[in-house]
Amino acid sequence: MSKNTAKSKLVIGNWKMNLSFDEAEELATSIQETLADFNLQTEVAICPPFPYLELVTDLADEGEAYSAGAQNCSQFNNGAYTGEVSAKMLADMGVDFCIVGHSERRKYFKESNEVLAEKIDRLTENQVIPVVCCGETLEERKSGKHFEVVEKQLTETLFHLSKNEFEHTVIAYEPIWAIGTGETATPEQAEEMHKFIRSLVEKKYGTEIAYNTYILYGGSCNPKNAVELFSQPDVDGGLIGGASLKCGDFVDIIEAAETTTSEN
Ligand code: PGA
Repeated sequence: MSKNTAKSKLVIGNWKMNLSFDEAEELATSIQETLADFNLQTEVAICPPFPYLELVTDLADEGEAYSAGAQNCSQFNNGAYTGEVSAKMLADMGVDFCIVGHSERRKYFKESNEVLAEKIDRLTENQVIPVVCCGETLEERKSGKHFEVVEKQLTETLFHLSKNEFEHTVIAYEPIWAIGTGETATPEQAEEMHKFIRSLVEKKYGTEIAYNTYILYGGSCNPKNAVELFSQPDVDGGLIGGASLKCGDFVDIIEAAETTTSEN
Protein backbone atom coordinates (compact mmCIF):
# COMPACT_ATOMS: atom_id res chain seq x y z
CA MET A 1 0.00 0.00 0.00
CA SER A 2 1.05 3.58 -0.43
CA LYS A 3 0.45 6.57 1.74
CA ASN A 4 -2.19 9.18 1.12
CA THR A 5 -0.57 11.21 -1.65
CA ALA A 6 -2.44 14.35 -0.62
CA LYS A 7 -0.82 14.19 2.82
CA SER A 8 1.46 17.14 3.56
CA LYS A 9 5.09 16.40 4.35
CA LEU A 10 7.13 16.78 7.52
CA VAL A 11 10.70 18.10 7.56
CA ILE A 12 12.68 17.99 10.81
CA GLY A 13 16.08 19.59 11.34
CA ASN A 14 18.44 17.80 13.72
CA TRP A 15 21.16 20.24 14.75
CA LYS A 16 22.98 17.59 16.82
CA MET A 17 25.71 19.10 19.08
CA ASN A 18 26.47 22.08 16.87
CA LEU A 19 26.40 25.91 16.91
CA SER A 20 27.16 28.61 19.47
CA PHE A 21 24.21 30.34 21.10
CA ASP A 22 24.57 33.33 18.76
CA GLU A 23 24.72 31.09 15.71
CA ALA A 24 21.69 29.16 16.90
CA GLU A 25 19.75 32.37 17.42
CA GLU A 26 20.69 33.65 13.99
CA LEU A 27 19.79 30.39 12.28
CA ALA A 28 16.46 29.90 14.06
CA THR A 29 15.52 33.53 13.39
CA SER A 30 16.48 33.41 9.69
CA ILE A 31 14.51 30.19 9.17
CA GLN A 32 11.51 31.75 10.87
CA GLU A 33 11.74 34.95 8.82
CA THR A 34 12.20 33.07 5.54
CA LEU A 35 9.32 30.68 6.18
CA ALA A 36 7.06 33.60 7.14
CA ASP A 37 6.95 34.52 3.42
CA PHE A 38 5.57 31.11 2.45
CA ASN A 39 2.14 29.73 2.95
CA LEU A 40 3.39 26.24 3.77
CA GLN A 41 1.52 22.97 3.80
CA THR A 42 4.69 21.22 4.93
CA GLU A 43 5.12 20.83 8.66
CA VAL A 44 8.56 21.87 9.92
CA ALA A 45 10.33 21.21 13.21
CA ILE A 46 13.75 22.13 14.56
CA CYS A 47 15.60 20.02 17.13
CA PRO A 48 18.38 22.10 18.72
CA PRO A 49 20.62 21.05 21.62
CA PHE A 50 18.83 21.31 25.02
CA PRO A 51 20.29 24.72 26.06
CA TYR A 52 18.79 26.34 22.94
CA LEU A 53 15.36 24.77 23.23
CA GLU A 54 13.74 27.77 24.88
CA LEU A 55 15.03 30.00 22.11
CA VAL A 56 13.38 27.73 19.56
CA THR A 57 10.12 27.25 21.50
CA ASP A 58 9.83 31.06 21.86
CA LEU A 59 10.40 31.60 18.13
CA ALA A 60 8.06 28.73 17.35
CA ASP A 61 5.30 30.36 19.42
CA GLU A 62 5.92 33.76 17.94
CA GLY A 63 6.21 32.90 14.26
CA GLU A 64 4.29 29.63 13.97
CA ALA A 65 6.68 28.76 11.14
CA TYR A 66 7.95 25.62 12.83
CA SER A 67 7.66 23.52 15.96
CA ALA A 68 10.36 22.72 18.47
CA GLY A 69 11.79 19.26 19.00
CA ALA A 70 14.38 17.73 21.32
CA GLN A 71 17.08 15.25 20.36
CA ASN A 72 16.72 12.95 23.37
CA CYS A 73 14.98 12.50 26.71
CA SER A 74 15.29 10.34 29.80
CA GLN A 75 13.59 6.97 30.17
CA PHE A 76 12.76 7.97 33.77
CA ASN A 77 9.93 10.17 35.01
CA ASN A 78 11.89 12.31 37.47
CA GLY A 79 14.28 12.07 40.40
CA ALA A 80 17.97 11.55 41.05
CA TYR A 81 19.22 11.15 37.47
CA THR A 82 21.96 13.78 37.16
CA GLY A 83 22.26 15.23 33.70
CA GLU A 84 18.97 13.88 32.40
CA VAL A 85 15.97 15.75 30.96
CA SER A 86 12.49 14.27 31.33
CA ALA A 87 9.71 14.06 28.76
CA LYS A 88 7.52 16.06 31.14
CA MET A 89 10.08 18.89 31.18
CA LEU A 90 10.02 18.92 27.38
CA ALA A 91 6.22 19.01 27.37
CA ASP A 92 6.22 21.85 29.93
CA MET A 93 8.49 23.86 27.63
CA GLY A 94 6.15 23.47 24.67
CA VAL A 95 8.27 20.94 22.80
CA ASP A 96 6.20 18.95 20.29
CA PHE A 97 8.67 16.33 19.01
CA CYS A 98 11.58 14.33 20.38
CA ILE A 99 14.01 12.22 18.36
CA VAL A 100 14.45 8.76 19.90
CA GLY A 101 17.02 6.12 19.10
CA HIS A 102 19.18 8.03 16.67
CA SER A 103 22.01 5.74 15.58
CA GLU A 104 24.52 8.08 17.23
CA ARG A 105 22.79 7.50 20.58
CA ARG A 106 22.62 3.77 20.00
CA LYS A 107 26.32 3.71 19.13
CA TYR A 108 27.98 6.20 21.48
CA PHE A 109 25.60 5.97 24.44
CA LYS A 110 24.76 2.28 24.11
CA GLU A 111 21.00 2.85 24.04
CA SER A 112 19.23 -0.47 23.67
CA ASN A 113 15.81 -1.11 22.14
CA GLU A 114 14.55 -1.77 25.68
CA VAL A 115 15.63 1.67 26.94
CA LEU A 116 14.27 3.30 23.79
CA ALA A 117 10.88 1.66 24.34
CA GLU A 118 10.80 3.25 27.81
CA LYS A 119 11.71 6.67 26.40
CA ILE A 120 8.91 6.34 23.86
CA ASP A 121 6.49 5.49 26.70
CA ARG A 122 7.53 8.59 28.69
CA LEU A 123 7.06 10.77 25.61
CA THR A 124 3.63 9.40 24.70
CA GLU A 125 2.50 9.77 28.34
CA ASN A 126 3.44 13.45 28.07
CA GLN A 127 2.00 14.03 24.57
CA VAL A 128 5.39 14.69 22.98
CA ILE A 129 5.63 12.99 19.56
CA PRO A 130 8.53 10.52 19.40
CA VAL A 131 10.46 10.54 16.12
CA VAL A 132 11.69 6.97 16.23
CA CYS A 133 14.84 6.27 14.25
CA CYS A 134 15.71 2.95 12.66
CA GLY A 135 18.26 1.86 10.09
CA GLU A 136 20.94 -0.64 9.25
CA THR A 137 24.75 -0.54 9.06
CA LEU A 138 26.58 -1.02 5.78
CA GLU A 139 27.56 -4.60 6.73
CA GLU A 140 23.94 -5.42 7.54
CA ARG A 141 22.83 -4.11 4.16
CA LYS A 142 25.62 -5.92 2.33
CA SER A 143 24.64 -9.19 3.97
CA GLY A 144 20.98 -8.65 3.06
CA LYS A 145 19.83 -8.27 6.67
CA HIS A 146 18.50 -4.70 6.41
CA PHE A 147 14.79 -5.56 6.47
CA GLU A 148 15.24 -7.93 9.40
CA VAL A 149 17.25 -5.33 11.37
CA VAL A 150 14.71 -2.55 10.84
CA GLU A 151 11.80 -4.86 11.69
CA LYS A 152 13.48 -5.86 14.97
CA GLN A 153 14.23 -2.25 15.90
CA LEU A 154 10.63 -1.17 15.31
CA THR A 155 9.10 -4.23 16.94
CA GLU A 156 11.19 -3.84 20.09
CA THR A 157 10.95 -0.06 20.47
CA LEU A 158 7.59 0.95 19.10
CA PHE A 159 5.12 -1.79 18.33
CA HIS A 160 4.10 -2.32 21.97
CA LEU A 161 2.12 0.94 21.77
CA SER A 162 -1.66 0.90 21.58
CA LYS A 163 -3.32 2.17 18.40
CA ASN A 164 -4.10 5.49 20.05
CA GLU A 165 -0.54 5.97 21.20
CA PHE A 166 0.99 4.85 17.92
CA GLU A 167 -1.05 7.39 15.97
CA HIS A 168 1.05 10.13 17.59
CA THR A 169 4.45 8.85 16.55
CA VAL A 170 6.75 9.43 13.57
CA ILE A 171 9.22 6.93 12.11
CA ALA A 172 12.53 7.99 10.56
CA TYR A 173 14.44 5.54 8.38
CA GLU A 174 18.10 6.48 8.55
CA PRO A 175 20.51 4.01 6.98
CA ILE A 176 23.61 4.42 9.16
CA TRP A 177 25.95 4.29 6.15
CA ALA A 178 24.24 7.42 4.79
CA ILE A 179 24.35 9.60 7.92
CA GLY A 180 26.80 12.47 7.62
CA THR A 181 28.74 10.58 4.94
CA GLY A 182 27.51 12.37 1.84
CA GLU A 183 26.34 8.98 0.59
CA THR A 184 22.56 8.95 0.21
CA ALA A 185 20.30 5.96 -0.23
CA THR A 186 19.02 5.97 -3.79
CA PRO A 187 15.37 6.95 -4.10
CA GLU A 188 14.65 3.29 -4.95
CA GLN A 189 16.45 2.01 -1.83
CA ALA A 190 14.62 4.53 0.34
CA GLU A 191 11.23 3.71 -1.20
CA GLU A 192 11.78 -0.04 -0.85
CA MET A 193 12.47 0.30 2.89
CA HIS A 194 9.73 2.87 3.51
CA LYS A 195 7.21 0.63 1.78
CA PHE A 196 8.36 -2.29 3.91
CA ILE A 197 8.03 -0.21 7.10
CA ARG A 198 4.54 0.89 6.08
CA SER A 199 3.58 -2.75 5.51
CA LEU A 200 4.78 -3.59 9.05
CA VAL A 201 2.66 -0.76 10.46
CA GLU A 202 -0.29 -1.96 8.41
CA LYS A 203 0.06 -5.50 9.73
CA LYS A 204 0.18 -4.26 13.31
CA TYR A 205 -2.18 -1.26 13.33
CA GLY A 206 -4.31 -1.55 10.18
CA THR A 207 -4.55 0.20 6.84
CA GLU A 208 -5.77 3.61 7.91
CA ILE A 209 -3.07 4.17 10.51
CA ALA A 210 -0.39 2.88 8.13
CA TYR A 211 -1.68 5.30 5.51
CA ASN A 212 -1.43 8.25 7.90
CA THR A 213 1.90 7.39 9.54
CA TYR A 214 4.76 9.72 8.71
CA ILE A 215 7.86 7.82 7.58
CA LEU A 216 10.78 10.21 7.11
CA TYR A 217 14.04 9.58 5.31
CA GLY A 218 17.32 10.71 6.88
CA GLY A 219 20.93 10.43 5.77
CA SER A 220 22.75 13.04 3.66
CA CYS A 221 19.51 14.52 2.40
CA ASN A 222 20.30 17.86 0.75
CA PRO A 223 18.75 20.40 -1.64
CA LYS A 224 20.05 18.41 -4.64
CA ASN A 225 18.53 15.04 -3.80
CA ALA A 226 15.49 16.07 -1.76
CA VAL A 227 13.01 16.34 -4.64
CA GLU A 228 13.81 12.85 -5.92
CA LEU A 229 13.67 11.32 -2.45
CA PHE A 230 10.46 13.12 -1.47
CA SER A 231 8.82 12.13 -4.77
CA GLN A 232 8.79 8.51 -3.67
CA PRO A 233 5.26 7.49 -2.72
CA ASP A 234 6.18 6.24 0.76
CA VAL A 235 8.66 8.99 1.72
CA ASP A 236 6.74 11.53 3.79
CA GLY A 237 9.56 14.01 4.38
CA GLY A 238 13.00 14.08 5.94
CA LEU A 239 15.08 14.15 9.09
CA ILE A 240 17.87 16.51 8.12
CA GLY A 241 21.24 16.75 9.88
CA GLY A 242 24.08 18.69 8.23
CA ALA A 243 21.88 20.53 5.73
CA SER A 244 19.65 21.86 8.53
CA LEU A 245 22.54 23.99 9.82
CA LYS A 246 22.33 26.34 6.82
CA CYS A 247 19.17 28.37 6.45
CA GLY A 248 19.30 28.34 2.62
CA ASP A 249 19.77 24.58 2.35
CA PHE A 250 17.14 23.78 4.96
CA VAL A 251 14.58 26.06 3.32
CA ASP A 252 15.38 24.55 -0.11
CA ILE A 253 14.67 21.11 1.35
CA ILE A 254 11.37 22.39 2.77
CA GLU A 255 10.53 23.77 -0.67
CA ALA A 256 11.31 20.33 -2.16
CA ALA A 257 8.82 18.85 0.30
CA GLU A 258 6.26 21.43 -0.70
CA THR A 259 6.75 20.88 -4.45
CA THR A 260 6.52 17.11 -4.19
CA THR A 261 3.32 17.36 -2.14
CA SER A 262 1.51 19.31 -4.82
CA GLU A 263 3.00 17.11 -7.60
CA ASN A 264 1.80 13.84 -6.03
P1 PGA B 1 22.77 13.98 7.93
O1 PGA B 1 22.17 13.46 9.31
O2 PGA B 1 21.65 14.67 7.19
O3 PGA B 1 23.88 14.93 8.31
O4 PGA B 1 23.27 12.79 7.19
C1 PGA B 1 20.87 12.98 9.40
C2 PGA B 1 20.61 12.58 10.83
O5 PGA B 1 21.53 12.06 11.46
O6 PGA B 1 19.49 12.76 11.36
